Amino acid sequence: MNARTIDIAPSILSADFSRLAEEIQRVEQAGAGILHVDVMDGHFVPNITVGLPVVKALSRVTKLPIDAHLMISEPGRYAAEFVKAGARMVSVHVEADAHLHRTVMSIKTAGALAGAVINPATPLESLQEILEFVDYVLIMSVNPGFGGQKFIPTALDKVRRLRHLIDQRGLPVRIEIDGGVDLKNIQQVVEAGAEIIVAGSAIFGAEDPGGAVRELREATVQWV
Ligand code: DX5
Ligand code: ZN
Repeated sequence: MNARTIDIAPSILSADFSRLAEEIQRVEQAGAGILHVDVMDGHFVPNITVGLPVVKALSRVTKLPIDAHLMISEPGRYAAEFVKAGARMVSVHVEADAHLHRTVMSIKTAGALAGAVINPATPLESLQEILEFVDYVLIMSVNPGFGGQKFIPTALDKVRRLRHLIDQRGLPVRIEIDGGVDLKNIQQVVEAGAEIIVAGSAIFGAEDPGGAVRELREATVQWV
């Protein structure tokens, strides 16, 4: 397998929301590459988290690129707003958007990288037409809505098949994986072809989040 850049992307969902700036500083210093922010609307997913003002505030306290994972209905109405708020990556669920191409183009026109996300039950085939327009694909390895869930093992084969599809078509599309990733399975997900590794509870649920980032990075060192 060719050398790829592996980024550890801590998800702030499991962080202490009363001291986010400090929590982010710890993972940034430990070598995290991307900051994953889960935006939930209580409609597309059964949970509510944060929105535009928080992304705006966080973009002032970190140099890490903010990756806004939009788990919201009608994401086309807000996607470009997240770029204006400071997100450098914005991803949209294919299940939530009847006009995905338009939304993806609005993210790129606003100046950020655009991602398409698929849920565990959504087939890879649903990415067929959008693949050449996106900068990354996010494969959900849990059903979105909550941190701390168990990794669904069929996601591994999905990542493998997507890697094959991307390489076959010669596209510069990166693969992100999100949900239930920890020290026990990170090597498998990287081996399958994932490059942006989201981890929430494995990092912010640990006593030392910085140490957890370092351990996850070290576990993937042969691919870096
Ligand atoms: C789940 C979110 C994830 C979540 C991951 O809906 O999209 O980003 O924070 O948390 P862990 O790593 O604990 O599964
Ligand atoms: Zn996420």
